Amino acid sequence: MEKELKFPEGFLWGASTSAHQVEGGTKNQWSEWEKENAGRLAEKAKTYWQPWQREKFPEMLKPENYISGRAADHYNRFEEDFDIAKSLNHNAHRFSIEWSRIEPEEGKFDEKEIEHYRCVIRALRKRGMEPFVTLWHWTNPLWLEEKGGCESKDFIFHFSRYSEYIAEKLGKEVKFWITLNEPTTVIAGAYLIGAWPPQKRNLLVVWKMYRVFARAHIEAYKKIHAIDSKAQVGFANMLHSFEPYRRRWFLDEVMVWMGKYLTNRKMLSLTKGYNDFLTVQYYFHNRFKFPRKVRVDHLPVSDLNWEIYPHGIYRVIRKLKEHNLPIYVTENGLADASDSKREIFIREHLKEIHQAIQEGADVRGYFHWSLLDNFEWDKGFWPRFGLVGIDYATMERKVRESALFYAQICRKNSINLIEGKKSRKTLDR
Ligand code: BGC
Repeated sequence: MEKELKFPEGFLWGASTSAHQVEGGTKNQWSEWEKENAGRLAEKAKTYWQPWQREKFPEMLKPENYISGRAADHYNRFEEDFDIAKSLNHNAHRFSIEWSRIEPEEGKFDEKEIEHYRCVIRALRKRGMEPFVTLWHWTNPLWLEEKGGCESKDFIFHFSRYSEYIAEKLGKEVKFWITLNEPTTVIAGAYLIGAWPPQKRNLLVVWKMYRVFARAHIEAYKKIHAIDSKAQVGFANMLHSFEPYRRRWFLDEVMVWMGKYLTNRKMLSLTKGYNDFLTVQYYFHNRFKFPRKVRVDHLPVSDLNWEIYPHGIYRVIRKLKEHNLPIYVTENGLADASDSKREIFIREHLKEIHQAIQEGADVRGYFHWSLLDNFEWDKGFWPRFGLVGIDYATMERKVRESALFYAQICRKNSINLIEGKKSRKTLDR
């Protein structure tokens, strides 16, 4: 028996990328940090990853894995990449603008680079894809970094001025804006764990950064709306799913509450009233057994050893529903070099999203992470997130099988459950 799960009419289907991860040739705080840390990261990989991961991805032991360099050369090949996305029936696409290209020196804006992104947007529109434009996907121009980067007291001013400039130049061509990508991931990665540039561990800064990012978003929101009152503006929010390892165990429950508050809720409440839509970027399910996060061993995982837990996306969307705003899933995906799990991953997550829609959540789009294999920050190139694989030696693009499966969903605006099941087993470890 066939079962067709239909999505609402006009649903947006696509994939996401970010400038630093795919464009190549960027010069920002990450590119400089990579050069200084590549050797250390290659060394760390010898003990940090599981033996099965090191065996499967020996490139993680080489320093060059950790230098973004040419990345996927998307800066030069965006037309070709959008042709592929179109052939996969995508009707929307999320990408980010690289601030360091637009404002290479403080207060000096580069018209040529604006023109580049105008061409990117037009290339999408020409192919019938709605652009979702992210203004900041974690990278800062070097002059800003010298002033203290995101922590600098001028960050809010500089970010909102840059946002205003982009909106003035490109506003006529863009409806959907995402100001900041996952502020809470940066807060955790850079200031709490201290693994990412600027590698600080400081709880006072952690606390401060929520307000800085919220303010930066709000100011950019106002600037964009002053230019185009019809613009749709939001920020990309990482949402985790949480559960206590032991039900009703006080300290496990406290950890869950804290996790939900700090990761899922705080940025939303600080920016309340300044979001035209909400976003879901879902990758993680956490089980807390005080005082730490624990893993259940038999569950399926990605190449990064991240647990695959599709039901979590339903849970986070159900919670977002309370805000009564349109919702877009702007990232969801996995590292899966052999492409053995991506199809079923997509199907299972979409089933959960569909269920949330049935229960009244106003979800209007899904963007898989990612269109292309890309540079996965401090992990480098070995994790393969792309619907489309990249041979980094030749820059050849290869459409993965799962991308074709997803293409059918995009075309039909529905998932056919029997079709999916026939073509794939279940998710194994
Ligand atoms: C980020 C992406 C990243 C992805 C996979 C998201 O948190 O926005 O830049 O590649 O996760 O780790």
